[in-house]
Amino acid sequence: MLEIKNLHASVAGKEILRGINLTVNAGEIHAIMGPNGSGKSTLASALSGNPAFEVTEGSITFCGKNLLELSPEQRACEGIFLSFQYPVEIAGVSMTNFMRAAVNAHRKYKEQEPLSAADFLKLMKQKQSLVELDNRLAGRSVNEGFSGGEKKRNEIFQMAMLEPKLSILDETDSGLDIDALRIVANGVNALKTKDNASLVITHYQRLLDYIVPDFVHILYIGQIVKTGGKELALELEQKGYDWIKNEIHNNIKPQT
Ligand SMILES: Nc1ncnc2c1ncn2[C@@H]1O[C@H](COP(=O)(O)OP(=O)(O)O)[C@@H](O)[C@H]1O
Ligand SMILES: [Mg+2]
Repeated sequence: MLEIKNLHASVAGKEILRGINLTVNAGEIHAIMGPNGSGKSTLASALSGNPAFEVTEGSITFCGKNLLELSPEQRACEGIFLSFQYPVEIAGVSMTNFMRAAVNAHRKYKEQEPLSAADFLKLMKQKQSLVELDNRLAGRSVNEGFSGGEKKRNEIFQMAMLEPKLSILDETDSGLDIDALRIVANGVNALKTKDNASLVITHYQRLLDYIVPDFVHILYIGQIVKTGGKELALELEQKGYDWIKNEIHNNIKPQT
């Protein structure tokens, strides 16, 4: 589904990603872990097409298409969904209108008719229950005055509405208490099918107790330095990120 080869990306002239290789198949959950500043959000931005990040080398293929040639909107319509580390508030735009516009934009891209008001509300209701999102939030402006937990649940709700092929969750767990974490994780698990995939970015192992990954990758200074199964996340939790740093630095051979 997703194939990233030798990806290099820069922001403000500084190289952040230094040769990422990653293959994600349908039905898989991949976790990306790494210390702060290692480039996790930059990878998410490069995938979603954030124009602040410049891809300088390498390729990204998504469902057979060259992703780097597509606009952020086209990428979204092709089935890439990014849940933000810090969801933005959009004053004056109700959740209902926002989601209706988004769902119908996706339908238009696929040359489908827009949903009728009744069908749309039915879909909203059904997906809202998945993340236990209060019905009252639907009438309010997008994320305005939402608590941290409500914003994150709202992100998963949007994901449920759009049914992406590839979901990228960027530290969706940050700032969540254990109950909100469980609700978010249950939503993600309920949306998992054999045809879609998730990239779960997290600094801590905690989320992976609830969303069990097939693969764990450790990102460090812009490169994937280690890949393993879910046990790698536990090992990392026990040994800390210094373990990775020491291991890498010990492997650097003195120049002769
Ligand atoms: N908009 C930006 N302008 C300048 N530097 C940035 C910007 N965004 C990220 N960076 C830098 O890129 C590096 C990686 O950041 P990021 O991808 O957010 O890391 P992570 O998500 O792993 O914590 C950091 O050194 C950060 O300061
Ligand atoms: Mg980040």
